Amino acid sequence: MKASLIVHGGAWDIPPELIEAHRSGCRAALLEGWEILHSGGHALDAVEAAIRVMEDSPALNAGTGSVLNAEGQVELDASIMEGAGLQAGAVAAVQTIKNPITLARRVLESEYIFIVGEGAVLFARGAGIEECSSEELVVERELRLWEAQRSETAPAVRGADGAVRSDTVGAVAMDHQGNIAAGNSTGGRPFKHPGRVGDSPLIGCGIYADNGLGGAACTGQGEGIIRVALAHSAVQLLKDGKPVQEAALLAVQLLQEKVDGRGGLIMVDRHGNVGYAFSTPTMAYAYLREDMEEPVVGI
Ligand code: GLY
Repeated sequence: MKASLIVHGGAWDIPPELIEAHRSGCRAALLEGWEILHSGGHALDAVEAAIRVMEDSPALNAGTGSVLNAEGQVELDASIMEGAGLQAGAVAAVQTIKNPITLARRVLESEYIFIVGEGAVLFARGAGIEECSSEELVVERELRLWEAQRSETAPAVRGADGAVRSDTVGAVAMDHQGNIAAGNSTGGRPFKHPGRVGDSPLIGCGIYADNGLGGAACTGQGEGIIRVALAHSAVQLLKDGKPVQEAALLAVQLLQEKVDGRGGLIMVDRHGNVGYAFSTPTMAYAYLREDMEEPVVGI
């Protein structure tokens, strides 16, 4: 089977000063995951590795550099799924974990699927995952935005299209054995209510993977994405015989038509073809298939 990998660095109105960092973050994530796929590794490992790179990028809304909630704290959500046995793992509202995607992966390997808040941190301790202070995850840019929002001087949570910013990072891969995996990680919405959880850690909403069909990872307004179970809906379009790029476009249309939602998604079908679509002004993405000489990186 020809391996393929697609990553996204979030669908929203990316400001000009962050465009290059989104591009380079996606490219670095793609190459990290590709190294694993190219040397015969598993799709799950490639997805986890790619997302870790984006979590560590201070420009992207996941891990370090995440947006802050109304209390000025990070609260991180992540999920990962594999398409052979439909195993999945997810965490939400974690505050002291640098790479929540790795914690989600450990949950996938456990008897559970979804663990939240302090319980997830307890689980991390048991799994030997190192904790960090929540301050370590906060960057100056987000602190300034939070301070401005607190004093109601910054409407910056909305993009030019009036949509609430809710970006995410994610990846979908197919390995040489035909295994498909998908994952997502996010800080959620800026100034969100503490405890608010979006689509990213919800299986079927933020991500879905099924080796017989394909995989999808979504980004954008979680409240809308959840209502149309976007990732599962997109993968079902493959079952209906739609080519993967058409499925991605139809899924974004569905989000807009059914619930007036904005966002984007990346997909891989069971043959390793990739698709992506977005209804926000921009979405950062990058992809590579075994039959391509160079990665494609775009906004
Ligand atoms: N799509 C990310 C969120 O709504 O939290």
